Amino acid sequence: MTLSHTSVSKHKIIFDTDPGIDDAMALLLALVSPEIEVVGVTTVFGNSHVEATTRNALNLLELAGRPDIPVAKGADRPMVLPRGRTGEFVHGEDAMGNIGWTVVHNPDRRPLDVSAAQFIAETIMAQPGEVTIVAVGPLTNVALALQLEPRIAQAARNVVIMGGSVATPGNVSPLAEANIHNDPHAAAAVFGAGWDLTMAGLDVTMAVRMDEAFFGALRRSENRLAQFIARIVRFYQRFHRERYGYPDGGVDTHDPSAIAYLIDPTLFRAERWSIVVPLDGPAMGATIADRRGFFWTTPKVNCLMQVDAARFLDMFRARLTT
Ligand code: BDR
Ligand code: CA
Repeated sequence: MTLSHTSVSKHKIIFDTDPGIDDAMALLLALVSPEIEVVGVTTVFGNSHVEATTRNALNLLELAGRPDIPVAKGADRPMVLPRGRTGEFVHGEDAMGNIGWTVVHNPDRRPLDVSAAQFIAETIMAQPGEVTIVAVGPLTNVALALQLEPRIAQAARNVVIMGGSVATPGNVSPLAEANIHNDPHAAAAVFGAGWDLTMAGLDVTMAVRMDEAFFGALRRSENRLAQFIARIVRFYQRFHRERYGYPDGGVDTHDPSAIAYLIDPTLFRAERWSIVVPLDGPAMGATIADRRGFFWTTPKVNCLMQVDAARFLDMFRARLTT
């Protein structure tokens, strides 16, 4: 089952994340969207180590005036691979664009006593058919939750990930996207679980470019969340200019794409393919889409292939500036 724009009720989501500049954009978009209720945030290594991504999650919820949303700290390393390089070179030393976030701003706020994987498993099993996982970092917590409680594969409403790619080159190796490459064993488990899984990969996330004109509108608005995004994105803009030569302060729109899909699936065109993830070698962490039906026993994934970029950007800007 894929989402139909007219028939969906409000999406209760667990937001699994490694914030991260684009993770912050995605979380803030979710928090201002009436179609979405964030029931918890779970954190994972990726754009930085998990202590930093957890601190950022707590601070982002504080900033958004949502300290009521629980945060559960998750994995600090991949399931099988040794620890690799984290993403400060893309997101800044604090993973929030070098704005100097070194502590949790509200000393009363701390993560739950349960792990991210436990939180995911318990929350889904408490409300079968109700809760969607939106995962925009390495898939370690989600795979650990599947190990803890395999029945979540039937009990989750949907899973939407930002990660992978069908036909677009990788962003951390010739074929692999960062979130999948950071923990390919976890990704293989998540793709193989047989649940209703949507992949917002590089095919769509690199087809939506936010640029300086876009961020200027956020900066000039009176919405402090919009102003915050315009502030943290500077570092990310520099990375995209230096790495990809993007002009005009352009950046890719990775993690917000997963949230945009839940808000309005008609922004995207999808195709259903089986996905296989190589676990070693030069293709490690790639998402091989079987477009000829060879892997006929492998579960099919709803792969987002095309996006209406202009309508997506209008929606994001409208929601964050009004
Ligand atoms: C993904 O990697 C991270 O750097 C981003 O937050 C996003 O989730 C893009 O490949
Ligand atoms: Ca991310």
